[in-house]
Amino acid sequence: FEVPIAVNEPVKDYAPGSPERAAVSAAYIKMYNSKVEVPLYINGKNVKTGDTATMSPPHDHKHILGTYHRADKKNIKDAISTALDARKNWAEMPWEQRAAIFLRAAELIAGPYRAKINAATMLGQSKNIYQAEIDASCELIDFLRFNVQYMTEIYAEQPESTSSTWNRLEYRPLEGFVYAITPFNFTAIAANLPASAALMGNVVVWKPSDSQMYSAKIILDIFKEAGVPAGVINMVMGDPVMITDTVLASPDFSGIHFTGSTHVFKDIWQKIGTNIHNYKTYPRIVGETGGKDFIVAHKSSNPKQVATAMIRGAFEFQGQKCSAASRCYISKSIWKAVEKELIAEMATLKMGSPEDMSNFITAVIHEGSFDKLAKFIDKAKKDKKAKIIAGGKYDKSEGYFIEPTVIVTEDPKYTTMCTELFGPVLTVYVFEDKDWLKTLTLVDETSEYALTGAVFSEDRYALEVAIKALQNAAGNFYVNDKPTGAVVGQQPFGGARASGTNDKAGSKLNLYRWISPRMIKETF
Ligand code: ALA
Repeated sequence: FEVPIAVNEPVKDYAPGSPERAAVSAAYIKMYNSKVEVPLYINGKNVKTGDTATMSPPHDHKHILGTYHRADKKNIKDAISTALDARKNWAEMPWEQRAAIFLRAAELIAGPYRAKINAATMLGQSKNIYQAEIDASCELIDFLRFNVQYMTEIYAEQPESTSSTWNRLEYRPLEGFVYAITPFNFTAIAANLPASAALMGNVVVWKPSDSQMYSAKIILDIFKEAGVPAGVINMVMGDPVMITDTVLASPDFSGIHFTGSTHVFKDIWQKIGTNIHNYKTYPRIVGETGGKDFIVAHKSSNPKQVATAMIRGAFEFQGQKCSAASRCYISKSIWKAVEKELIAEMATLKMGSPEDMSNFITAVIHEGSFDKLAKFIDKAKKDKKAKIIAGGKYDKSEGYFIEPTVIVTEDPKYTTMCTELFGPVLTVYVFEDKDWLKTLTLVDETSEYALTGAVFSEDRYALEVAIKALQNAAGNFYVNDKPTGAVVGQQPFGGARASGTNDKAGSKLNLYRWISPRMIKETF
């Protein structure tokens, strides 16, 4: 069988006066003015526990968008047992049917749900419309379409046979259930982690971030309408430690698909190790975690191109991308020109609510994130080693707004050059032109994380030196481009070191982790 050829969903431009702009504005206003309730979702049913928490837009934190329900231990156990009950039918369902369900989900997003899922992402996660479109619509659609194609490519991989021996690989799902833990910063990731495992025939217990509840609800509505059967994807939220401990205590736990912080992932890995004798199968551990992503600019690079990459790489999506540029190394002879461009371009960036579609930057996700960023900005204001050359203001009176901020330091190991901040704060170190290789070595040595990185140069030799010297410093490496914006089907995404297991989201490499093939040799 051939499935429809996967194509990237075109990004709509939401030009003033366009029907898509009117549709998303109307959805935003309607959703802002009504109250949403997000129950748990177990065995195809909404479960209201009565233990509720409220949800607010990060850019308007006094406003209540609605509530979500929190699970107790029994709810988690129900989610696990219901998933296991659903497993047989789902795993045995012909793969064409699973493919059709997720292709249908992609079309529902591309059409009737587009405005709604974008508006939920704008309201709940404070993305501007362009960010919401790229994430909640295009990237999510791409994940769903491309994974179906990759699944069929995997299933077609078969060993050689002879006339008397038939060798065939049966691509079974894992025996047990998969646990998906998803982050606030991407609606696409939140949907893809449960969906990719489910596509390969697995059943899933999904714990979304409690800062992403609105779009999580829409994802569930879409999956349900597309035909994902009851019990296949179950959503639970609440106390993360209780949920994870309960899930990991199950002997049927067979894999985790995780995106989130490095320390949480390491804790989970340790708990899996502690429980290892209880499991029926070795669990698959797939995680994408932190980043401290870099831009390095050689003296031969174009200052305007570098400045634009710094702004887009560091400040788009409020810097809340694991791939966001947060440390830059710029060659001295171009620095003044880069600085001039940077300051001029940054002066044009507007900050405010996503409701006003001309805003480039909106609020960071919550007070914890705001306070952490404000603390580092204050420290930079006082430190002799650091100087703020742009931004530096913040205000949480209405929303968690942090101005895009550039710190320049003379110390390449200055705290904001090394610490993951996850917000719109970029630190720059200026190096001597002659120190190209020395600087690249420094970048590598200070890369505790290894997710993304970019190098700029118009000198081919300098580029080759950088590509080699930074071989292990980034799983997604960009030459003369910003280090963000990987597109499914074009740049499989993931990093190593403290950034994750590098199982490349949006590629066959990831899907292989959700199968446990049986080799059948039949002799005639
Ligand atoms: N995949 C996202 C990017 O590349 C995080 O920016």
